[in-house]
Amino acid sequence: MLHLLRISNVDSTNEKVSGCTDQQLGQFLPESNSSVELSTGRSAIAYLIEKMGLTANDTVMLPSYVAEGVVRPFQLLGINVDFYRLTPKLQPSLDDLSRLIGESSRARLIVVIHFFGFKASIEPIRELIGTRDISILEDCAHALFGDYSPGKAFGTTGDFSLFSLNKFLPVPDGAILLSNNKKINLKERPLEFFIEDTDATNAYLTHLKKNELLYHSNDPKESTRLIEESGRAYDLYYDKINTNLSFRAPSKNTREILKNLNFKELIHLRKRNVQFLYENFSSKSIQLLNKDYSPDAVYFAIPVLAKNCQERNQIFKTFLQKGLFASTLIERWNFIPKQKEPKYENEIDFMNRHLLLPINEFLSLEDMKKIVSLLKQI
Ligand SMILES: Cc1ncc(COP(=O)(O)O)c(C=O)c1O
Repeated sequence: MLHLLRISNVDSTNEKVSGCTDQQLGQFLPESNSSVELSTGRSAIAYLIEKMGLTANDTVMLPSYVAEGVVRPFQLLGINVDFYRLTPKLQPSLDDLSRLIGESSRARLIVVIHFFGFKASIEPIRELIGTRDISILEDCAHALFGDYSPGKAFGTTGDFSLFSLNKFLPVPDGAILLSNNKKINLKERPLEFFIEDTDATNAYLTHLKKNELLYHSNDPKESTRLIEESGRAYDLYYDKINTNLSFRAPSKNTREILKNLNFKELIHLRKRNVQFLYENFSSKSIQLLNKDYSPDAVYFAIPVLAKNCQERNQIFKTFLQKGLFASTLIERWNFIPKQKEPKYENEIDFMNRHLLLPINEFLSLEDMKKIVSLLKQI
């Protein structure tokens, strides 16, 4: 079953991304003034809230389609949250942001997400901010290793940038927060390294293992069971990290796995798969959300849209029967209250119509050909 979940034991796949020990993750991350490594993206945001000294008097602006892991630390720590609208292509709506900035004298931070690794423009938001004391946090959880243009990495335009490693890499945890802001040194406060949450780590390792078995499974019944088991292990992990925002270091497991990953190869294979998919994309029933891709970006997945929700659900089922698990990101991403849905029609439309096509490094060219062939059939 082809899918976009991360898998353990990359060695057993067709093309290897392991076995190289001389590459440090740091060499593949953008330069910054200071940085800190924590166990999860949400705890890194809690850390940033503390470093910026945000209080209940302050407001943060988040996109209205957003991961719970981004919303939760602000809510738990009592910071006001305003949601700004997105365009149909999931770019920040500058009109809505301009209005919100104008209305709020207490705005201190705007979070911008590069959804699925597609660049969100930061410069126009800077212009809206003008001389106001509002910082930008670039959420690069979906954009690890990507460049906006040759030599200009994702995560270098905001005041701060966030990477959550297990969105891309076969590791159980780990997040990196960078500061480009000279006044806020993320290293200043010595980290209290709490004892590792081994329950969370073990649950995630189980999730990775089930995902690996799922990739190798050709039996529909077994695949369904593995998807359920993988989901249960993920839920367990998720419950743990969602209630524990303490400032812990990445687990020992993560540090060991990172030593053995070949990031260069991973980047190359993801780029190759994206290029193949775009060059061969053809489908009557679904369309690409973004007509173009950048050869400099390293994508998390490729979003496509069906005509409506019913068709999307039908296509999802058809793909599943034929060996492709095209995920959606809806659960834990929808913070739009029912009564406000008409205001956020672009976000609702995206949630109703999207599927995510996998381009992971463990997918071979044969796998990508299969995806292209399935697209042609619907
Ligand atoms: C875009 C994005 N940012 C941040 C986070 C939070 O990261 P973590 O799960 O490591 O807390 C997530 C998690 O789903 C995410 O998808």
